[in-house]
Amino acid sequence: MKNKFYITTPIYYPSAKPHMGHAYSSIVADFFARFKRIDNYDVFFLTGTDEHGQKIERASKDNNKDTLKFCDEISSIFKDLTFKLNLSNNDFIRTTEKRHFDAVEHLWNILEKKNYIYLSKYSGWYSVSDEAFYSEDEIEEIDNIKKSKSSGSKVEWVEEESYFFKLSEWQKPLLNFYEKNRNFILPESRRNEVISFVKGGLKDLSVSRKSFKWGIQVPSNKDHVIYVWLDALTNYLSALKYPDIKNDLFNKFWPASLHLIGKDILRFHAVYWPAFLLAADIEPPHRVYGHGWILSGDEKMSKSKGNILDPLEIINIYGLDSLRYYLLKEVSFGNDGNISEEKLENCINSDLANNFGNLCQRVLSFAEKNCSSVVPSHKFNNEDLKILNSMNNLEKIRSFIDNQDINQYMSFIIDKLFASNKYFNDQEPWKKKDDKIRLSTIVYTALELIRKITILLYPVMPQTTINVLNSLNIKENDIEFLSLKNNEFLKENQKIYKLNILFKKIEK
Ligand code: MSP
Repeated sequence: MKNKFYITTPIYYPSAKPHMGHAYSSIVADFFARFKRIDNYDVFFLTGTDEHGQKIERASKDNNKDTLKFCDEISSIFKDLTFKLNLSNNDFIRTTEKRHFDAVEHLWNILEKKNYIYLSKYSGWYSVSDEAFYSEDEIEEIDNIKKSKSSGSKVEWVEEESYFFKLSEWQKPLLNFYEKNRNFILPESRRNEVISFVKGGLKDLSVSRKSFKWGIQVPSNKDHVIYVWLDALTNYLSALKYPDIKNDLFNKFWPASLHLIGKDILRFHAVYWPAFLLAADIEPPHRVYGHGWILSGDEKMSKSKGNILDPLEIINIYGLDSLRYYLLKEVSFGNDGNISEEKLENCINSDLANNFGNLCQRVLSFAEKNCSSVVPSHKFNNEDLKILNSMNNLEKIRSFIDNQDINQYMSFIIDKLFASNKYFNDQEPWKKKDDKIRLSTIVYTALELIRKITILLYPVMPQTTINVLNSLNIKENDIEFLSLKNNEFLKENQKIYKLNILFKKIEK
């Protein structure tokens, strides 16, 4: 049976236009999904839109639109983004779909039946922008406006009847759970943050709102709508057809392998979500990874700050794969990262045009001229084998992926690109025209190096790498990570095809 991998990105609030931070999260998830697919996993990659709550209701009113119509419009912009970013998601869920209502109502009923939910009254601070409740010590006053210390968003005083989830009872079980599952929250610094928050004591959590209507009603009391985070988090189950836990999708893919999220929504995923699941006797996900923010200057990119960088504009100018490569390589994964056009242009010139593009172009055109556009024969010497074998340690590469160590993965590739260019230079095949076997072997080795590196780059830049692999006669469905072990994958006399320029150097 195939191994399985279920990866999710947070479903987006369709309250505004997508920005670079959204694109980043999805591209990283797509990278992991594609790697696991070529490593022969059965992959389910989920994204979608989170459409309930006061934030969306207000945004639709501000736009004078019926709320569902408003969601339809903006959700379709996010769906469109999945195509523009060449995401390989298996599903796109909307929380306004019936399948999601069924899952949320069912989960609520279980929690209520098990006595984890009770009716009382909430009085405290609420941020509509974060859809989060904050305690007195989590807010501050700036220019007479009360704001959340962590997100900086405005909070308002709420006093209303509300259902509560007995989160306080989950403090100890959660701490035990974190202890037993040491890699449940990554990176380590975020794990520590969460543990110290939970150790500080957990209060029961308000899980319904009464003062607006846009949401899923509490099944036993239609005056209340279910708190949007309890609603939204459940999307990870609804996409697997929960509550039907006997169906193939749920059986195969739950618990999720990786919830990939931004650090701003860590508490919801690493505290509330496992508590809801444990309370409902559902196994929690294996891992929650909280990545950093894409900053604009020194600040988080967000609509409210008005500092949005439009991913589509960047793609129009520089191309999607360049942007994907840049985000995966240049942002230190787990930390905040800055995107600037200057850095992107440097990255295109040095890594993509000079290094990867150059290697592919020069080797393929040399093969075209000197080997009649077919894979030549080979008789490896130790030097050839040494460089080819340097990409055979599949376990090491897999561990980069399984530890979400994207930067090590990228450094490994860059290292191999330099080494391969150097190999071709040092071997000087153009001076071996009298030694047909040696010339052929150098070309063969270089083609194999290109094949291996391009396979590793496939999850980063799917479209460009498919073009390169096609020129070696390899189709997308045949890309296999395991084939990196093989130094003689390419078959002698097989045709190779001309490659158009992959990346144009940007003149400054
Ligand atoms: N709807 C919630 C998630 C519900 S999941 C059950 C939400 N939506 S969001 O649209 O605000 O954010 C979606 C994702 O994008 C989150 O992971 C968030 O952290 C991420 N990012 C939003 N702005 C970002 C940056 N500037 N940089 C990197 N990621 C950012 O939260």
